[in-house]
Amino acid sequence: MHGAEADAGLDGLLRAAPWMPEDARAAERFERIDHAVLGGAALLLIVAAVGGPASGRRFFVPVRGTDGGGFEAAHGSEAFDVAAVTRTLTGGKLPTARGGSVEFRGPGRGPIGVRRLPFEQGWSSNALSLVDVSGTACIHKTYRRLDETIHEPELLRRMNGTGRTPQWVGDYTYVAPDGTSRSPLGVIYQYVQGEGIDVPLRGNLRSMWPRLTDTTSVEEVVHAHLQPLEEQLRRAGEFLDDFHQDLAHRLGGAAEYPVREALDDAVDRADRLARHGTGLALPKSAHEAAFEALHTELAALAAEFDDGNIPASGPCHGDLHLSHLLCAADGDRGAGTGWRMTVLDLSTPALGPDDPDWPRQSPLQDLVALERALEYFAADEAAFEAARRLGVDSLETMLGSLDGAPHWPEARRAVLRQVFAATDAWRRHVTRLLLGSASDHPLRRLLYVRRLLHELTYNQAHARPYHAAIDLRHARALAPAAAFARK
Ligand SMILES: Nc1ncnc2c1ncn2[C@@H]1O[C@H](COP(=O)(O)OP(=O)(O)OP(=O)(O)O)[C@@H](O)[C@H]1O
Ligand SMILES: [Mg+2]
Repeated sequence: MHGAEADAGLDGLLRAAPWMPEDARAAERFERIDHAVLGGAALLLIVAAVGGPASGRRFFVPVRGTDGGGFEAAHGSEAFDVAAVTRTLTGGKLPTARGGSVEFRGPGRGPIGVRRLPFEQGWSSNALSLVDVSGTACIHKTYRRLDETIHEPELLRRMNGTGRTPQWVGDYTYVAPDGTSRSPLGVIYQYVQGEGIDVPLRGNLRSMWPRLTDTTSVEEVVHAHLQPLEEQLRRAGEFLDDFHQDLAHRLGGAAEYPVREALDDAVDRADRLARHGTGLALPKSAHEAAFEALHTELAALAAEFDDGNIPASGPCHGDLHLSHLLCAADGDRGAGTGWRMTVLDLSTPALGPDDPDWPRQSPLQDLVALERALEYFAADEAAFEAARRLGVDSLETMLGSLDGAPHWPEARRAVLRQVFAATDAWRRHVTRLLLGSASDHPLRRLLYVRRLLHELTYNQAHARPYHAAIDLRHARALAPAAAFARK
């Protein structure tokens, strides 16, 4: 399984891999640039894309031999998990063929029982498996894309003891032959019971639909319906604050957020998008209203920051989705009173003040990420529910929510209005409970606009009118009159 024969099979394995980014999939070929031998369990290949738009990009590909003399991905095999996890727990170094090494860092225990457990990974860009380590269920996560910033193992290690993140157990890192470039390959950390916060939220929203009638006040229904989750959502918000404090405490030093740079970037992006349009079939009036609101908001922010008001930066999660906020019923405190919460998939951009990206992060960024995630989540649910009621496609209801579907009969438009109004009220209440009242903070407003523009650019580039419609809806709602109406 060594040499040219193994590398001939590499191409098929990688080109067909669902996790492979599109630009790298277009490589002319994939080439092994280094490897280490993990006993008889796997070859730990470091592979580079050659040719094409992602030429030079590196990937970590553990493989093992097949009976036919070729090889296959080692992920999914008991032997690979057991060998990699055991080696990590023991600690030590494995030399690579080109003079680099793989460094294993763990508690340095003696022989340990490691066994693979069943695990439904679901979609994710890395490879995860569940292992039993001397009676404790742990995740073994291996990274595939080596040139992305991967701080997760080190962050988990530093956050040990806070109880906000899964307990770090060990990790392993590729050290290139030059001895300076280090790329995390894998981490072992404790498995946590629970489900993403999107699960109880979805359950709550979907069970609200039967309560909506022609005579009910939307606000009253929403408040009554969210009441059973109120306490948990407030506590989840406090948990996030505590997480940010612990993170700042563990990583260090305060800095000033480069607000001028962020503002210039947002203005530039807004101008470009406004000038070229989205190129998508979206109502023109909604597009114009959205960009007018964005420009007004950016001008207001520029004036605020002109006063020399420079906000502090601080470390953040960096990629907070609803599913990264894990909640479990807290048995100790009785049903319904609280959740035990954990944050997953830490993607903090910089680990400390020495990193040039250190000032370019803020806990407010995480709040904005959740706020936007709630916007996508709620709009998607509303479009789906309205489509179900009206017997049309959800792209139609989503676009109808932008311009009020003027060509529809009034009775159908009323259904659309009611479902979206109820969902908007529900989302605003959830956002208030979970993310508190910092929404007027100018840096939060700036980060919100930046994120929205970034997402709109992405949705335009990937021809996603459904998602771009959500962006326009919320951009338009930034207008002072709309903000007043929202209160
Ligand atoms: N410690 C854990 N305990 C329980 N479940 C976990 C744990 N770690 C990960 N998971 C589950 O695996 C999923 C994927 O994990 P994670 O988000 O870390 O992977 P990823 O490859 O970095 O994902 P993405 O491609 O979204 O960045 C999580 O959403 C969660 O459902
Ligand atoms: Mg991730």
